[in-house]
Amino acid sequence: MIHYRIQDQIAILSWNMTSQPMNVLNDESIPAFREALQKAFDDPGVTGIIVTSERNEFVAGADLKMILRLNDKPAADMFAFSMDLQRLFRSIETSGKPTVAAINGTALGGGLEITLACHRRIALRNPKAQLGLPEVTLGLLPGAGGTQRLPRLIGIAAAAPYLLEGKRLSPEEAHAAGIVDELADSPEDLLAKAIAWIKANPAPLQPWDERNKKGAIVGKDHYSVPGGGVQSPKTAPLFMGGAAQVMQKTHGNYPAPLAILSCVYEGLSINIDRALAVESRHFVKVAQSAVAKNLIGTLFFGQNEANKGASRPTGIPVTDIRKVGILGAGMMGSGIAYVSALAGIQVVLKDVSAEVAEKGKAYSAGLLEKAIQRGKSTREKADATLSLIHATGNYDDLKDCDLIIEAVFENRELKAEVTRAAEPLLRDGGVFSSNTSTLPITGLAEAAVHPDRFIGLHFFSPVDKMQLVEIILGKQTSDTALALAMDYVRKIRKTPIVVNDSWGFYTSRCFCSYTDEGIRLLREGVDPQLIEKAGVLAGMPVGPLAVSDEVALDLIYKIAGQGIKDGALAPDDASFDTASRMVSDGRLGKKAKAGFYEYPEAPAKKYLWPGLADLYPLAAEQPSLEEVKKRLLYRQSLEAQHCFHEGVIRTKLDADLGSILAWGFPAYLGGALSMKDTVGEEAFRAEAIRLAEAYGERFRPV
Ligand code: NAI
Repeated sequence: MIHYRIQDQIAILSWNMTSQPMNVLNDESIPAFREALQKAFDDPGVTGIIVTSERNEFVAGADLKMILRLNDKPAADMFAFSMDLQRLFRSIETSGKPTVAAINGTALGGGLEITLACHRRIALRNPKAQLGLPEVTLGLLPGAGGTQRLPRLIGIAAAAPYLLEGKRLSPEEAHAAGIVDELADSPEDLLAKAIAWIKANPAPLQPWDERNKKGAIVGKDHYSVPGGGVQSPKTAPLFMGGAAQVMQKTHGNYPAPLAILSCVYEGLSINIDRALAVESRHFVKVAQSAVAKNLIGTLFFGQNEANKGASRPTGIPVTDIRKVGILGAGMMGSGIAYVSALAGIQVVLKDVSAEVAEKGKAYSAGLLEKAIQRGKSTREKADATLSLIHATGNYDDLKDCDLIIEAVFENRELKAEVTRAAEPLLRDGGVFSSNTSTLPITGLAEAAVHPDRFIGLHFFSPVDKMQLVEIILGKQTSDTALALAMDYVRKIRKTPIVVNDSWGFYTSRCFCSYTDEGIRLLREGVDPQLIEKAGVLAGMPVGPLAVSDEVALDLIYKIAGQGIKDGALAPDDASFDTASRMVSDGRLGKKAKAGFYEYPEAPAKKYLWPGLADLYPLAAEQPSLEEVKKRLLYRQSLEAQHCFHEGVIRTKLDADLGSILAWGFPAYLGGALSMKDTVGEEAFRAEAIRLAEAYGERFRPV
C-alpha cells in the first residue's frame, strides 16, 4: 500500500493503494503511512524522507465513506480520530529529519495537507494534476492542518479563496501562489530535486516552529504570518469582510465557511500545536452537521450512483451510442448537439432547412472557440468535435441513428408530424425521444409505430451547463428503451433521473409549486420584496417572482392552462389567473423587459414593478420572514412527497438529486424529499399540518 525503499540514505515512501480507485486516506492507509514514517524516523541511517506516489495521483483526499462512518459515532470519537491525524502529520514536522513531498499528481484535501506538513513541496508539471482543499464544497473543513498551515505559509488573504471556496490549482498556479516551492519537469527530475534538497537541508524547520532549550521542535508562540497576523490592521478587516461575504453567499445555511474563518482567526493567534486542536474541534462540529451529511450523501455519493446508472434496468446489454439524430436546431437542439458531439457521438442536426440547421451548428462552433480561448481545448480537438455534427434539412440523413431526440417547437401536431417522418429511419431497435417540457409522453408516443421505443429526454437550459437529464417513461416505454436512453445520458456525462409520465413530470411540477407559492403570497398582499428575499435566504438561487419572469409568464400561463385542462390543477388556479392578468397587460417577463420586475437598460438593475401594488395591494399585516421562507420550502418538499407517493418519481435519490440539479432546491436540506429527514420527520409533519390549517390543503402532508 505504501512502498518503502532507501536510496542515498533517504527513505522513499510511495503511496500505491491497489485496493482503491485512487490513493486516499482511510482506515488502511493511515496506519500504513504511520508505520512507514515511524520506520524512517527510527532508522538512524535514514537522513531524510520523500513522500510520493506510484500512481497518477499523489493522494486524492480522505475517503468520504470513512467520514460518513465517523459521522455516526459520538463527537468525542471523531475528535480523537482527527487529533490522531493531526499528531501524525505534525510528527513529519518535528521528527528532525527533512521531509519532502514529491507531488507527482493530484493532491486534494488530506492529500494536500500531507504536503503542507512536509518541509518542502516539489510538484511535477502535470497537466492533469489539481491541488486544493475542496472540503468546503462538501460541507466540511480541512481537518488535518489545512486551515492552519496554508495561511501560515502564504498569508491569510491569499489562503482565503482556497479555504473558503475550495478553489483548485494546477502545479504551476500552486507554484506561483507560493504553495509549491519548486517545479519538476519529469518524474526523474522530481526525485533528483527532492534528494538534492534533502542533502542541502539536513535539519530544516517549518517557519512556524523553533527549537526549545532541550532541542525539541515546538511551535513558535509568536509567529509572524506573511501579510500580517489576525490582529494586524491589514488583516483584521478581512475577517469582517470575509464573514459578510460568506453570509451573503450562504445566508447562514452552510456552517463550514464560517467555521473555517473561526479556525483561522482563533488558530493563527496561538502556536501551531494548540491551533491544530482548535481546528479539530471545529472539524467535528461541521463534519457531524446534517449539512455535511447531506452534501456528502446526496450530492457526492448519490450523484455518483446515479451517474453509474443506479436506475438502469439490469440484465440489458450496454449500447454504445454512435449516431444521434436531433430534430430542431433551436436553443435546445443545438445545445444537445454540442454535448453529444463533445462525447464523440456522430450527430445529425436536422431543421426545416440546412441553412437553419447550420445556425444551430454555429452554436457549437462558438462554444468550442471559447474553450480554446480558455485553454480548455485545442484547435485540433475542437475541429474534430465540430466535424461530428452534420447540419441538414434532409430526413434521409437520419438513417441508422441509435437514438433520435425531437426538439422542435412545443406543438403536439408538429411533434407528431416529425415523429412520423423520422422514426422509421432509426436503426433496428433504435429509440425515439422527445425533449418536450410539458406534453405527456404517452400522448406523443401515439404518433410512433413503436411506442415501446418512445421515451422522454428532458434537458435543461443551457444544456452544456445543466447537469441533469429527466428521463420520462411513457405508459408503453420498455426497459430496453430506458436502458438505451441511460447509456446515452451516461455517455454525454450527465446525471439521469427516471420519472413516470404525468403533468409537468417531476421537475416542472415541483418547480411550479415554488413559483405558485410566490404568486399566492403576492395575491395575499405580502410585500413582494419580502417574498423575493425569503426565497433567496431560504437557499433558492432566485426569488419566485424573478424566476417566473425568467421562465416567462406566458409560458406559465400556458402550462397552468394545460394543467387545468388535464384536471391536474383547479379551474381557479392562482398562477393561471395572475399570469393571465400579467400577460394581458403585455408583461410577459424578462424577455419582454416587463414582468413582475421592470428591466431598465444596463447598467441599471431590475427592480420590482411598482404596478404590482395596484394589482395586489399590500396587506396591513405582514408575515415574518421565517414564515414566508417556510411556506416556500415546505410547498416544494410536499409536492415532491406527493410525486413520490403517486409514483411519478420512483426513488428518493432521484427525487433529491432532481430537485437540487434541476431547479436549485437547496442542497443543505438534502433535496426536496429528504428535507423532512433533515428537519426531523415529526417536526416536519407537525409544521406541514399547521401550514395546511393556516393556508390550505396544498400543505397537507402525505
Ligand atoms: P426553439 O424555438 O429554439 O427551436 C425549435 C426549432 O425547431 C427551431 O429551430 C425550428 O426551426 C425547428 N423546427 C420547427 N419545425 C421543424 C421541423 N419540421 N423539422 C425540424 N425542425 C423544426 O425551441 P427550444 O427552446 O429549443 O425548444 C424545443 C423543445 O424543447 C420544445 O419542445 C420545448 O418545450 C423543449 N424544452 C425547452 C426548454 C427551454 O428552456 N427552452 C427546456 C426543456 C425543454
